[in-house]
Amino acid sequence: MAEIGQDIRIAKEFLIKGELVGIPTETVYGLAGNALNERAVLSIFETKKRPAFDPLIIHTDSVEKVQNFVTDIPETAQILAANFWPGPLTLLLPKKKNVPDLVTSGLDTVAVRIPRHPMLLELLSQLDFPLAAPSANPFGYISPTTASHVNAQLGDQIPYILDGGDCEVGIESTIVGFEGEEIIIYRLGGLAVQDIEEIVGHVKITAASSSNPKAPGMLKSHYAPLVPLEMRRKADIVGNDASTAYLLFDSYLPYVDRNYQRVLSENGDLREAAHNLFAFLRELDRLPVKSIIAEWVPMHGLGLAINDRLKRASVQE
Ligand code: TXA
Ligand code: MG
Repeated sequence: MAEIGQDIRIAKEFLIKGELVGIPTETVYGLAGNALNERAVLSIFETKKRPAFDPLIIHTDSVEKVQNFVTDIPETAQILAANFWPGPLTLLLPKKKNVPDLVTSGLDTVAVRIPRHPMLLELLSQLDFPLAAPSANPFGYISPTTASHVNAQLGDQIPYILDGGDCEVGIESTIVGFEGEEIIIYRLGGLAVQDIEEIVGHVKITAASSSNPKAPGMLKSHYAPLVPLEMRRKADIVGNDASTAYLLFDSYLPYVDRNYQRVLSENGDLREAAHNLFAFLRELDRLPVKSIIAEWVPMHGLGLAINDRLKRASVQE
């Protein structure tokens, strides 16, 4: 198992040596390596068992540093960066040659993000290279939101996990790209579409697809628990089947054992729901049940991203 600790110096030393470290972000935990070191990047793909066609996000701590890795930051991107960085926003920007093709899976854009977790920002400020960091889960499984989630699945493959507590947002960053005048959301995430539209006007959301090479992040079967998951509206959740666990939005089912249900937010708060989503899914996934039924959450704010993750978790391929 990995050592879990809060020592930025130790994390930094492993990263400088080209080794991988579990890092906290405000969205989910990342599996981080030096983005400019091909050997480190390769071991990220190997450790996650991630296909090489699925590119990585690079993380750094200032727009000045971002300029070292991209040839241009369009004006709209600058406005979004000014409003939402540090934060759960990833921008797709034209890459410079110094970013290894391995990081971008050969695409000519690189995904960049300035996260807002204070411990990670401190680490990034001390590094003279950016960190490539996908979510720290085996490819296709639920993203980790605590250091112990990371340890449970990748702990035997990495030396250190920097423990920054529970991830505040709980759902991956929103990925935004630009085509001509168009602003495109390639992955719904921890920054709500409404918040983006308030600043830059209308955006286009590309639908999830299993065969869209422009947005490998949109692979359909993703974030899936091991137990098959099905989505229902509250009104359609009936019966009391002991072999089923329930993930509910704001209230318990009166006739089901409480151990077999989780309520994402009793106050109906979508931020709290996003924060709890992946941890609760993991808990239900460990129960001796044959299926998980998840309730659709309201389609506004972070509800779009929550439903997106649940929908993908429900695809069994
Ligand atoms: O919140 C997050 O974004 C977390 C934390 C650790 O920062 N990271 C994360 O990384 O979710 P990952 O690798 O699990 O998801 C990144 C997604 C991938 O699905 C990938 O396909 C997409 O970003 N992506 C990366 N570079 C891209 C590019 N140049 N064009 C299109 N999609 C890209
Ligand atoms: Mg991921």
